[in-house]
Amino acid sequence: MKFFIDTANLDQIRDAQNLGVLDGVTTNPSLMAKEGITGRENILKHYVAICNIVDGDVSAEVIATDYDGMVKEGEELAGLHDQIVVKLPMIKEGVKAAKYFSDKGIKTNVTLVFSAGQALLAAKAGATYVSPFIGRLDDVSTDGLNLIAEIRQIYNNYGFSTQILAASVRHTMHVIDCAKIGADVMTGPLSSIEGLLNHPLTDIGLAKFLADYKKGN
Ligand code: E4P
Repeated sequence: MKFFIDTANLDQIRDAQNLGVLDGVTTNPSLMAKEGITGRENILKHYVAICNIVDGDVSAEVIATDYDGMVKEGEELAGLHDQIVVKLPMIKEGVKAAKYFSDKGIKTNVTLVFSAGQALLAAKAGATYVSPFIGRLDDVSTDGLNLIAEIRQIYNNYGFSTQILAASVRHTMHVIDCAKIGADVMTGPLSSIEGLLNHPLTDIGLAKFLADYKKGN
């Protein structure tokens, strides 16, 4: 299972990278705005800065919602760095653009996916990643993890190579449940990754080992 961090915060990306378990980064326009990154030039520079920190794929989202605009913007994004994955919204034009980039060998991430049917279309279009938003489904009393399971089954049935990128992960149990279901990737905040470290018996056990060592040294 790949671990992506879902942020545009360079310090948090560095922290996750230094932990040695990071496989990539996802961003979106809201995450960019949260970091105060505004203006096309600054946004493009920020993507390059992220690519220079991590080794893996970095999703950069298009703003255009028409096919020609998405293609133009996606090509500009893909030209920034070979780690860039063009992130496209799950709308009709986005599916067409995913097919265009797939035919050109450019990686894509189809985002804002909330149903198995949408995920099936993304796979048919040859998307590299599909991003079902599990936390946002949970927010509206719908089982986000169930969607991951449905997509896993459908992709397995037909051998689709599109990777299931469980997005809108909010906490460590989401990460563990996605791993059990067989999501290829999860993307979440740093806390959802670092939370996997925690167990009180680890802390108690380590304290005891160190105390016993001190007794004899
Ligand atoms: C995915 O690529 C999105 O950036 C993200 O996971 C959305 O998460 P949120 O629902 O916590 O905003």
